[in-house]
Amino acid sequence: MNILHLSAECYPIAKVGGLADVVGALPKYLTLNGHKAQVIMPRYQLPFFLKHKFREVYSGQIDLGDQLYDFYIQSLSESELGFEVHFVHIPGLLDLDSVYTHDDSHRFTAFQRAALQWICTWSQLPDILHCHDHHTGLVPFMMSYCHEFERLKSIPSMLSIHNAQYQGWFSHDQGHIIPDFDRKYIGLLDWDGVINPLAAAIKCAWKVNTVSPSYMEELQNNANGLESLLFHEREKCLGILNGIDTQVWNPMTDPLIHKNYKATSVFSGKKANKKYVCNKFNLPVELPLFAFIGRLVYEKGSDLFPAVFESLLSRKQCSILLLGSGDPATEQALRQLQEKDLGTYNHYIGYDEQLSHQIYAGADFLLMPSRVEPCGLNQLYSLAYGTIPIVRATGGLKDTVVDIAAGGFGFVHQQCEVDEIVQTVERAIAYYQQDPKMQKNRQRLMGIDHSWENAATNYLNVYESLKALS
Ligand code: ADP
Ligand code: GLC
Repeated sequence: MNILHLSAECYPIAKVGGLADVVGALPKYLTLNGHKAQVIMPRYQLPFFLKHKFREVYSGQIDLGDQLYDFYIQSLSESELGFEVHFVHIPGLLDLDSVYTHDDSHRFTAFQRAALQWICTWSQLPDILHCHDHHTGLVPFMMSYCHEFERLKSIPSMLSIHNAQYQGWFSHDQGHIIPDFDRKYIGLLDWDGVINPLAAAIKCAWKVNTVSPSYMEELQNNANGLESLLFHEREKCLGILNGIDTQVWNPMTDPLIHKNYKATSVFSGKKANKKYVCNKFNLPVELPLFAFIGRLVYEKGSDLFPAVFESLLSRKQCSILLLGSGDPATEQALRQLQEKDLGTYNHYIGYDEQLSHQIYAGADFLLMPSRVEPCGLNQLYSLAYGTIPIVRATGGLKDTVVDIAAGGFGFVHQQCEVDEIVQTVERAIAYYQQDPKMQKNRQRLMGIDHSWENAATNYLNVYESLKALS
């Protein structure tokens, strides 16, 4: 099969969060399964583009109402990624030094239009167009209803919802940035009086999936305004759990960590990596090390960290290391904590891919008290690195972590509240003291298979069923 992914992010080209990891891995594993999988994404002004050569394969123009933009499709000459990647280059619009800005409606609409314009010229059309999140949410509508893309009408489209909090809303005043269609279909673009690309995709895509089964269920009660729509469309929706790319996330081969290890050498491997991280961040090696890696946003529960950390650190039984950035008030409170608590708390405020690998390898426990977590990849990486996850029972966290008290291997709490997080960490500290059990559990974690080899099959089954309908 020939599957074409459209996405705003793809690792290692442009990464803000887990979306990039998924789009950098799923096409690779589809290709390894004998299929042709390609990605089309925007060309940003990021370091990856300076280091690689591209071949121009198409050029065209897009009229965004009052402004005409030239665009170029460029393909990666030799893809070391394991699949083909094509870029939409729109000078003056898409080529910024960040993936997202405060208002991206023109940027991503232009991206989607340019991609479809180019695909229309292909002699052999793809079997499936797979869209990821609202940045590509207008694609299913435009393929079905915009005159310009008539040729793509019978290709099945699929939407993966990685995060329904963000929907790409823009006002109907800006509706002219979508090319001509029969106005009787305008309702398909609308949700609550504005153009809502995520809602449009849920309505128009042939199939919709979320990145875990539990998140699919939760969305019917909590989807930032789209609850009733998701309930209405439930027959075409399903949850497919993400995988992890074991070519990138494998402590045995990972070039970004201090010492490689496998399940049988996890004791010495983690000890060496913990020592390395603790030395780097001036933390004591003898205390259990709890880490957080991620965006400092409300969904991740990060607003509670200052209070949680302060309470835990006052007992002097653990140390904490955080890697992330986001909400300025949280960052500020964490900086104050860092000044006050030198010795058992430290952080790096910012984004650092290499450091994230080193922390998964060096920490004893990983904290994920998320309020909302569609899948979560961090807990899957932590399992692969023998680091015990401490999660709130929500979305993909609920689907992938089982509490030790229930015969499982991690720590699970029900609410995203300071007291519950603190109590769960205390439970983990007590567990840490039982050394032989800890080491055995680490080996168990490392044996859990969340590889894309398996997860990709679930997507393939959906693609096959869609192809049969077309
Ligand atoms: P989300 O996509 O909601 O941010 P995920 O758990 O799916 O959450 O994926 C987050 C990804 O981003 C993981 O690969 C994680 O290691 C990475 N990541 C998040 N914050 C940082 C950071 N500050 N530095 C390095 N990597 C980060
Ligand atoms: C989103 C979600 C995260 C998920 C990722 C990849 O960013 O917040 O939970 O793991 O997408 O699907």
